[in-house]
Amino acid sequence: MRIIDIIRKKRDGFPLTREEWSFFIKGITDGSVPDYQASALLMVCYLQGLDEEETLSLTEEMLHSGEVLSLSLPHTVDKHSTGGVGDGVSLAIAPIVAACGGKVAMMSGRGLGHTGGTLDKLDSIPGYRTNLSVSEFRSAIGRVGCSIIGQTADLAPADRILYALRDSTGTVENKSLITASILSKKLAEGVDSLVLDVKTGSGAFMKKREDAISLANTMVSIARRSGKRVTAFVTDMDQPLGDRIGNSLEVIEAIDCLNGRAPKDYTELTIALSSEMLFLAGIGERAFCEEKVRASIADGSALKKFAEMVENQGGDASYIYHPERFERAKDEYAVRSEKEGYVQSIDAEGYGLAALLLGAGRNKKEDTVDYSAGITVLKKRGDYVKAGEPLVLLHANGKSFAEAERLVLSSCKIGENRPPFSPLILTKID
Ligand code: URA
Repeated sequence: MRIIDIIRKKRDGFPLTREEWSFFIKGITDGSVPDYQASALLMVCYLQGLDEEETLSLTEEMLHSGEVLSLSLPHTVDKHSTGGVGDGVSLAIAPIVAACGGKVAMMSGRGLGHTGGTLDKLDSIPGYRTNLSVSEFRSAIGRVGCSIIGQTADLAPADRILYALRDSTGTVENKSLITASILSKKLAEGVDSLVLDVKTGSGAFMKKREDAISLANTMVSIARRSGKRVTAFVTDMDQPLGDRIGNSLEVIEAIDCLNGRAPKDYTELTIALSSEMLFLAGIGERAFCEEKVRASIADGSALKKFAEMVENQGGDASYIYHPERFERAKDEYAVRSEKEGYVQSIDAEGYGLAALLLGAGRNKKEDTVDYSAGITVLKKRGDYVKAGEPLVLLHANGKSFAEAERLVLSSCKIGENRPPFSPLILTKID
């Protein structure tokens, strides 16, 4: 078999066989397929598309390019979001689900560009270790019921190579390539069930709703054919989720949620995703699972579970009970509305980029993040604002606020009429 023949075949519109996908993935993993040929094949995949059989073959070959964990525990489940702004709900969901009897095995990533990453948020808790070994991860899940760590180097290594090439060749936004990338990593974690949160809107990868629905359908179908119980939610990212954007700010928001005090949209999504995870994990019927979730927040058991997870991974659990201990950014600046009226829309990507400029995110993988930097959102879609009233508070350490202010003002559209209600959960595929 030769890679040049595989590239030509796909270029001419013919689907590739399982053996051809296997040859390609083995070749990029052992280095026998050079980057220029891998990039050429990625571009023809992007342009020609992959059918379902090909998407399944690519996903499974990428999955088996590295270690596949076996957790050997009942009720194992994970959740994955395709990435958004202010989307720190995993931090609340993992302990809620664990407090209700699920076993949450979560391997997460760092933030890049305008979207945040769960690992950076957890790094803001002093001492918390995200680099557990596989055996530590397994025993943390068994003992505590949940663990959130970074991906180990042995997990789906083909994805790391392909993702870097896709990122530099304009071939990220293809639903089969995204499906294979996300599912190869999630299936390698060894969980039995998976809840997917596919974001759509200005702050998401999939700007158009129909593209997000199509991606969600593809992911559900491939995960199911790989033997997993799966549900996908398609949710709105046409404004930031919750009221906080930034690392320690989003940990504080998760703690607020576990204390029953988070913003309505944040709480709604947390409860919906947690309940579905418990249902898929076999804990009970959906209504029963939702009741359990609400009770775990009301009786404090989910908050206690969060502290337990943090402590088990070397973190200072006192921060979970006393979030005022998180270091605050030294400088604060209120961005004030230039007009009076209703907030019509907020370009979530614009707010995400403003938070990045303040130090909360990274442009390049090597950049360091400022855990206390970010944005507190004071007005959301549908809120009324007077001229001169603050729209957001910016938090930073020694940075100019000018560019972030400009981004916030251009991202927040104010108009005369109250905008129509728009639901957070747009559709569910189960
Ligand atoms: N997240 C991933 O891990 N892979 C993609 O292709 C897109 C989002």
